[in-house]
Amino acid sequence: MNTALRHEYLAALGLEAWVMRNQPAASTVASTVAPLPPSTAREAGVDWPELRARVAACTRCALSATRTQTVFGVGNQQASWLIVGEAPGAEEDRQGEPFVGRAGQLLNAMLRAIGLPREQVFIANVLKCRPPGNRDPAAGEAAECLPYLEQQIALLKPKIMLAVGRIAAQNLLRTDVTLGRLRQQVHRFGSSQVPLVVTYHPAYLLRTPGDKRKAWEDLKFARGVCANV
Ligand code: URA
Repeated sequence: MNTALRHEYLAALGLEAWVMRNQPAASTVASTVAPLPPSTAREAGVDWPELRARVAACTRCALSATRTQTVFGVGNQQASWLIVGEAPGAEEDRQGEPFVGRAGQLLNAMLRAIGLPREQVFIANVLKCRPPGNRDPAAGEAAECLPYLEQQIALLKPKIMLAVGRIAAQNLLRTDVTLGRLRQQVHRFGSSQVPLVVTYHPAYLLRTPGDKRKAWEDLKFARGVCANV
């Protein structure tokens, strides 16, 4: 990406003065946090169309009664990067696509800042349905829904996962460690042991723009990890 364009993206992030620094190689970074136990393999072996159909018809938790539609995920099925958020919000529930609201605009800018157009990644959520009032996902809802994400990962075989926000990170890593302590480390997800990096949720960054610099550090860190996979 040329310098002018990168500065434009960084300006969108409110980080116009930032310059690239060298990133640590993935091999120098400690892996932390207990891995997700092997999945129940409920959806194992299912292809993309069948998985999409199963999600669309899902009634495994009470969110199926209040959703407008399921939000399966979107993007390139050959993507190296899988971005995982928490759950659809009101706009995502309406449109059936993750991260299409204001937070989504910022997520797009964050991805572009590291040279990744939205079309080049795959974006999904821990939950495929909107919790009413955007409340946090319940543990049972996440447990019912995670096998869908696990099969998406099995099909996609991403080189890296980027968990955006505390809720996504804690659900994926099965931990209650704070986001601040989960950042800047290489975790491993599930039986596939995909490298997983944690950063702030774009909705949080809209409320707390002072932390955008830390998010930018996380994105560069993740890019360094991906380059060394
Ligand atoms: N927040 C999320 O975590 N996911 C979305 O899809 C939208 C907002």
